[in-house]
Amino acid sequence: MVRLASLRYAPVALAGIVFLALVVGACAPDPSTTLISPDMPPEGAEEEFVPPTPTPLPDITQLTEEEIYAGLPEEIAALMPGDPARGAELAQLNGCVGCHSLDPNQTAIAPSWANMANLAVTRKPDMGPAAYLYESIVDPDVYVVDGYSAGIMPSNFGEILTPQDLADLIAYLLTLRGE
Ligand code: HEC
Repeated sequence: MVRLASLRYAPVALAGIVFLALVVGACAPDPSTTLISPDMPPEGAEEEFVPPTPTPLPDITQLTEEEIYAGLPEEIAALMPGDPARGAELAQLNGCVGCHSLDPNQTAIAPSWANMANLAVTRKPDMGPAAYLYESIVDPDVYVVDGYSAGIMPSNFGEILTPQDLADLIAYLLTLRGE
């Protein structure tokens, strides 16, 4: 009886084994493909892979006054820290704001001034931010911001504006920190 019963179930058991073999076969990893995980070290790396630290955003608050004003012509440096409120008025009176917006998304004509102070820190790494701003105003074609052309910004502001005007404009631009 026992033997008969087991024989009767033999085909079922066999089918079960075949089914299992198929399932396991289908799920087994394909040895021809390499598993790629973002945490895996690049091929050939011997030491543990450390993802690169993101470069910290430029921050003018980390600079000393001396570093901020480094490289300004003496005549202008003597007038710093200047008057930012008067600088803002001069930006209106001289038409700067006709091209430069404080809205970070308004960049069609000229770079936005939304984060001008921090950008001035990095535009020319060897130059202090105030000196960069000074040069950008009196000689705008020396450094042309990526994506723009030379010759759009008037190059005669150095003649029109007094040293006090320039100092105040720079003082104003140094307050624009993207907040
Ligand atoms: C006719 C449009 C126009 C006017 C007016 C204008 N600018 Fe510009 N300005 C530009 C353009 C275009 C650039 C980018 C090209 C370059 O770097 O020279 C620029 C660049 C600058 C930069 C460098 C910006 C950066 O992101 O590095 C500063 C600072 C600046 N201008 C200040 C001024 C000031 C201050 C005035 C007014 C006294 C002024 N601009 C008037 C068009 C203008």
